[in-house]
Amino acid sequence: MNQYDVTVIGSGPGGYVAAIRCAQLGLKTAIIEKYPTLGGTCLNVGCIPSKALLDSSEHYHNAHSVFQDHGIGLENLTVDMNRMIDRKAGVVKANVDGISYLMKKNKIDVITGVGSFIDKTHISIAPTAGGEAQQIETKNVIIATGSKPTVLPFIAQDKQRIITSTEALNIREVPRHMIVIGGGVIGLEMASVYARLGAKVSVVEFLDSLIPTMDRGLGKELKRVLGKIGIEFFLSHKVTGATREGDSVTVTALNPKGEEVKFEGDYCLVAVGRVPYTAGLNLEAAGIEMEERGRIKVDAHLQTNVPGIYAIGDVIRGAMLAHKAEEEGVFVAETIVGQKPHINYLLIPGVVYTWPEVAGVGYTEEQLKEQGKAYKIGSFPFKASGRARASGDTDGFVKVLADKTTDEILGVHMIGPRIADLIAEAVTAMEFRASAEDVARMSHSHPTYAEAMKEACLAATENRAIHM
Ligand code: FAD
Ligand code: NAI
Repeated sequence: MNQYDVTVIGSGPGGYVAAIRCAQLGLKTAIIEKYPTLGGTCLNVGCIPSKALLDSSEHYHNAHSVFQDHGIGLENLTVDMNRMIDRKAGVVKANVDGISYLMKKNKIDVITGVGSFIDKTHISIAPTAGGEAQQIETKNVIIATGSKPTVLPFIAQDKQRIITSTEALNIREVPRHMIVIGGGVIGLEMASVYARLGAKVSVVEFLDSLIPTMDRGLGKELKRVLGKIGIEFFLSHKVTGATREGDSVTVTALNPKGEEVKFEGDYCLVAVGRVPYTAGLNLEAAGIEMEERGRIKVDAHLQTNVPGIYAIGDVIRGAMLAHKAEEEGVFVAETIVGQKPHINYLLIPGVVYTWPEVAGVGYTEEQLKEQGKAYKIGSFPFKASGRARASGDTDGFVKVLADKTTDEILGVHMIGPRIADLIAEAVTAMEFRASAEDVARMSHSHPTYAEAMKEACLAATENRAIHM
């Protein structure tokens, strides 16, 4: 029987990063993945394919609706969905092949099959393609089995017309009318893809705001801007059912007055969150305790109640984000060898890859109010940015929240061009506990979108913004 220092179950961004860090630290490491390709949700059916389609659809939208402003004329513009989806598959392949290469480079044993506990130190791997199960012995286990889409019990998903994000990444036609249940991250990214390609898109959201866990100002501005590309929003609507007949779907919901409304379309995307995935792990055999909502219970070291067994990523509490899972993978590997790593959960940024992009880090204004914290706001709109005027991306703003007394930056919330990258400046500043004035006094190259961050910090510092 093969013996390992560490066995990682699941090869998503949590699992494969944990395996690499373990190998770097000299631990004999195995990684078990039930699918034939590595990379988990993120690389196969999540972050990477969704961004590939967001980029493709944005090119089309710009060619269709924005190029004219720049004096560029195009005739006979077409969309070839087969080619777009094939390109996305190629992007995914390049990324998952990259992970296989990294496993080889780091001498990590990759075992394909479903991993399940025999006891605390023995794992059985049942090959998904048939054949004999094998067993391994291991000193430590890192569970990184991720999550799957939440199912609404009153909706039968046939995965052809009533679909999850996985199928929404593979539609080889432009839908006539896509009805999206859920105005969260997946709902709005996929709504953007198909609205840009010419589909009618209706988003039906239970709460009274889009991306409700982010700073409220962001959802409000995003709704206004996405409305300009034709997406219709139905907030405070409680979905009661979705049915399919032939190629048509009907979604029923109760509007804020309690009246039943109907949406007719050809696709219904259900995007109402994700739930931890632990099926097949046989956690009971190792005596591993769970907590609410199907999550594996872990302590401050991300260790379960069983010494030597850890869990990371979507399968435990916290934001379901690839970069959160990655940080936790490194954290556990370093903990196993006796180091004292640290994760600052407050500073894990959240990003939505619509256009304009949306990002936030630190406390939202709503959280500061709830805490009774005295804060000040500095805000700068992209319509006052020279760089944004040059590119024609003047929607959105940067909002900086700083401590009223000490001026320490407490939260940064942005909506605008390329701010998925710009948020990194806010994370760095906050990690070093910068004041708004610290950032306001740093040189930002001109003309850049990043100047909006400097200006928002200036605005928070005695209202000193220069270009507003
Ligand atoms: P996962 O990536 O889910 O990987 C878990 C792996 O474990 C899977 O490969 C699974 O097959 C395997 N597994 C499960 N059980 C077993 C078993 N018993 N034996 C063997 N293998 C097993 N996050 C971002 O930060 N940025 C984004 O832009 C982003 N976009 C997204 C877009 C979509 C459409 C979706 C669905 C998600 C997106 N996410 C994004 C979220 C991100 O994908 C997840 O947070 C991330 O993948 C979680 O990583 P993980 O390692 O915990 O689990
Ligand atoms: P989400 O939690 O972001 O949004 C779900 C939305 O559905 C919420 O607004 C919620 O109020 C609404 N909702 C719930 N039940 C409903 C109902 N019955 N009717 C109508 N609306 C309802 O979840 P989503 O979009 O499914 O994404 C899942 C996870 O994947 C997220 O937690 C996110 O972290 C991750 N993800 C991250 C991305 C990124 O970082 N850019 C992109 C896509 C996903």
